[in-house]
Amino acid sequence: MARRKKVYEGKAKILYEGPEPGTLIQYFKDDATAFNAQKVEVIEGKGVLNNRLSEFFMQGLNDIGVPTHFIRRINMREQLIRQVEMIPLEVVVRNSAAGSLSKRLGLEEGTPLPRPIVEFYFKDDKLGDPMVAEEHIIAFGWATQQDLDDVVALALRVNDFLSGVMMGVGIRLVDFKIEVGRIWDENDYQRIVVADEISPDSCRLWDVKTGQKLDKDVFRHDLGSLSDAYSEVARRLGVLPAATPVPVKPSLIN
Ligand code: TMP
Ligand code: ASP
Repeated sequence: MARRKKVYEGKAKILYEGPEPGTLIQYFKDDATAFNAQKVEVIEGKGVLNNRLSEFFMQGLNDIGVPTHFIRRINMREQLIRQVEMIPLEVVVRNSAAGSLSKRLGLEEGTPLPRPIVEFYFKDDKLGDPMVAEEHIIAFGWATQQDLDDVVALALRVNDFLSGVMMGVGIRLVDFKIEVGRIWDENDYQRIVVADEISPDSCRLWDVKTGQKLDKDVFRHDLGSLSDAYSEVARRLGVLPAATPVPVKPSLIN
């Protein structure tokens, strides 16, 4: 392939210039990191699975009118996306207590929350992505109040969609993280869209019956094979690379 200009490299993905202005190519690496990259490993095939899974979720959101940056998958590891102006936040939605919320408030993991809770973290590796309030976000100009209202509405729509899709295959969506950005249409009307990725790297997914973890916590806490866990999610959703030995209906291969 012709040499392409790298625009950005993160821990799990690389962005290259896209074929047309306003587009980028998002490449999924096999690198897994946790605890702000204190733990790092290469998990063969993770990038392929996350490319497919993120395609599945983003396309599903596009199809129901929830805007995302996703245009189309290009190959096993790459997808074409719209270039957006990233808002420097990690937006976490929680349905049940787990992870940092359990620790912070002393809640037992798995305790259902009275309503979905949306939290914001400032995306800055040097600071370890600290939790921030709307006050900080508005005061420091990372987003406006109107942006935040749109972000919360978007995050809750993503939550409803993902929870339903997961419940349909016997998986409980405990929590997840999205990143969001701004795009402008031809009339200069600004829209907030889902960007980055949606994959088991950025969700907590528990088997409904057994409670088995099927997400990056498997890697964070050495609970077994990460690629087995992600393959199980992909298999249940009917999303698997064509080369997989597991039989897949032909209509689901592309
Ligand atoms: P937390 O309980 O550690 O705050 O994580 C909440 C959710 O956000 C969980 O689904 C994992 C996801 N997450 C990321 O995607 N990236 C991160 O850097 C962190 C800390 C969490
Ligand atoms: N994404 C973060 C990291 O790489 C933290 C995490 O997901 O646990 O280090």
